[in-house]
Amino acid sequence: MPGTALERLAAEHEVDVWPGRLPPSREHLRERMAGVEGLLCMLTDPVDRELIEVATELRAISTYAVGTDNIDLAAASERGIPVGHTPDVLTETSADLALALMLAAMRRIPEGDAEVRAGEWLTWEPARLLGHDLHRATVGIVGLGRIGRAVKRRVEGFGARVIHSGRTDGVPIEQLLEQSTVVTLHCPLTEATRGLLDADAFGRMRDDAYLVNTARGPIVDTDALRQALERGWIAGAALDVTDPEPLHADHPLLRAPNLVVAPHLGSASRETRAEMSDIAVDNLLAGLRGDPLPHQANG
Ligand code: DGY
Repeated sequence: MPGTALERLAAEHEVDVWPGRLPPSREHLRERMAGVEGLLCMLTDPVDRELIEVATELRAISTYAVGTDNIDLAAASERGIPVGHTPDVLTETSADLALALMLAAMRRIPEGDAEVRAGEWLTWEPARLLGHDLHRATVGIVGLGRIGRAVKRRVEGFGARVIHSGRTDGVPIEQLLEQSTVVTLHCPLTEATRGLLDADAFGRMRDDAYLVNTARGPIVDTDALRQALERGWIAGAALDVTDPEPLHADHPLLRAPNLVVAPHLGSASRETRAEMSDIAVDNLLAGLRGDPLPHQANG
């Protein structure tokens, strides 16, 4: 974890740090959870009911993320275990990345970069690598929470028109899909949003529209997205999250046209990741003391 927060944790508690670049296997995590009183996990660690039940001494969970879809919050609540997360601090950083991907896809920057490196930049050409303008776009924001609102401010600054769709407000999702030239996802992954962008949704989208997903991979049906790109149902897509994640280099989605993929970099600025470390450790320290967590995700 970037920053010095882990040292603060180690100053007060015995700390067992998983050293691998890849997440621990399920069996490994299970084994190491016995006797553990606090868990600081990554979004790649599935903390399900079974794992929570195995950890009989567990008193606090802290995830190094704002999203908590990898954690069974209900199972934790039933045991009276508070779950901490890291909202707010990554809002602006994540919104910046959404804009970077939106513009990269709409203005075809990765394709242009690839052409330059391949020696294919022969001259200035009037009709080569034409994209679409963000300032002329209607941006449909799915989920007007913290990050959705930060994206709204940014795209309005570019001159785009914004519509949104939410659980309780905004336009119906069908209307948003039919009207938007950019659909950008900022809702959490829940049973209601899993597969929200399926073949039917892509069928409703305009053929000059872009999909931007910086929320969670499974909100989009990967096969349906591949087909929509291959059949030209939409103009392009930019993803920071995928299903599966990671997306291996030989995955069929990567052969689809007009697609930009980043490896889940939404909160990945030096400053933000260091602040996330502080919040994650503060949450865990508070939970272990039996104090209210600064940022608690479950009731
Ligand atoms: C989160 O925090 O949920 C992001 O996906 C990674 O920072």
